[in-house]
Amino acid sequence: MSSLFSPIRLRELALPNRIMVAPMCQYSAENGAANDWHFTHINSLALSGAAMFCIEATAVEAVGRITPGCLGLWNDATEAALRPILASVRKHSKIAVAMQLAHAGRKGSSFRPWEGGQQIPLADGGWQTEGPSDVAHKDGELPPRALDASGLKRVHDAFVETARRADRLGIDAIELHCAHGYLLHQFLSPISNKRTDKYGGSLENRMRYPLEVFDAVRAVFPARKPVGIKVSATDWVEGGWDLEQTIEFARELKKRGVDWIDVSSGGVSPQQKIPLSPGYQVPFAQAIKEAAEVTTMAVGLITEARQAEDIVASGKVDMVALARGMLYDPRWAWHAAAELGGEVYAPPQYWRSQPSTQKALFGKTTFGAR
Ligand SMILES: Cc1cc2nc3c(=O)[nH]c(=O)nc-3n(C[C@H](O)[C@H](O)[C@H](O)COP(=O)(O)O)c2cc1C
Repeated sequence: MSSLFSPIRLRELALPNRIMVAPMCQYSAENGAANDWHFTHINSLALSGAAMFCIEATAVEAVGRITPGCLGLWNDATEAALRPILASVRKHSKIAVAMQLAHAGRKGSSFRPWEGGQQIPLADGGWQTEGPSDVAHKDGELPPRALDASGLKRVHDAFVETARRADRLGIDAIELHCAHGYLLHQFLSPISNKRTDKYGGSLENRMRYPLEVFDAVRAVFPARKPVGIKVSATDWVEGGWDLEQTIEFARELKKRGVDWIDVSSGGVSPQQKIPLSPGYQVPFAQAIKEAAEVTTMAVGLITEARQAEDIVASGKVDMVALARGMLYDPRWAWHAAAELGGEVYAPPQYWRSQPSTQKALFGKTTFGAR
C-alpha cells in the first residue's frame, strides 16, 4: 500500500492522495483577469492525478500584485474570468481546487521573471508599493509606503472580500500566502518589519497582522472548507525569521484551526544563502509537524515518486506539493501511482493510455468498440 496514494481529509474535503500541485504564478493575466493561458494551464494540471490543485498567488487588490501580469480576484471582472475555467475543471476532473490568496507588499511592481524580474520604476508603469515599514527589499529600490491603520484595514478587508469571492466561485480550499517575502511574511520578519506599534517589535506583535488576516479569512470561508497557509520557515539570514519563530506561529495557527501548513523558505532578503538539495525543506516541515502537531505539506525539490513516498510514509509530513516537477511532467501523479501501486483519476477519453501492466491504475475502467 502506498502512503502517498492513501486518502486524507481536510475538514469535509476528502482527498484521495497526498499530492498537491503547488501554486505557480503565470504572470499572464490582464488587469488581474485570467484568460486562455490560465484555461489551458489549469485544465492541464487538473488532470495531473494530484488530489488538489492550488491556483497561483491571487492578489486581493491590484497594488498587491507582484507583476502587472499577476492573477487577481478583487472585482466582478476578475471573478467572472475564473468562472468558465473552474466550470471546465469541474466537468473533466475530480481534483480539489484551492486558491492561494496573496499580497506582494514591497515586492510588488516587479517586471515578469522573463523580463528580468526587477522593480518597475514609476515612470515605466510601476506603482507605489506598501509594506509593514518603509524599508526597500533591495538597496536602491523605491521603498514601500508603511501601511497606516486605514491601509491595514483596507488590505485586511481585501483578503476577506477575496475569500468570499473564492467561495462563490466554488473554490474548495484557501491557502494564505505568508511565505517568500510577500506582505504577510514581511510582517513576520524582523528584516522587513521595523514597526514600533502593536504590529512590530516582539514576535507576538510581528505575528499579529498575519494572524488577524488568517482569523478574518477563516471566519468568512465556510466552516466545512479548509484554510491552510504557506510559510517560509526561515529567511536564511542571521537575525531574520527562523524555524523557532515559525513553530510559535504554527502553534498560534493551530489554535485558530489552520488545516495545513505548507512549508517553504526564503524570499524576504537578497542576502539569503539557501543550501539547495533534494527535499531540502522537508526537515522544516517535519519539525513544525512534530512541535505544533499540525498537518504539514513539504515542498521544494521533490521530484521523484519514491522520494515523495518515503517523505510521507516516514510520517515526517502529511502531504507533498510539487511545482516545477508538475510543469515538466503534467501527469506526474499518474506516473508516481504506476510506480508505487496507487490509483489515480483519469477522464474516460484517456483511459486507453493505461499501460497493459497497470490494469488498476485508473480504477475500474471499461471500453469497447465494434
Ligand atoms: C513558475 C513558478 C511560479 C511560482 N509561483 C508561486 C506562487 O504563486 N506562490 C507560491 O507560494 N509559490 C510559488 N512558486 C514556488 C513553488 O510553489 C514552490 O514552493 C517552489 O517552486 C519549490 O517547489 P519545486 O521544487 O517543486 O518547484 C512558484 C514556482 C514556480 C516554478
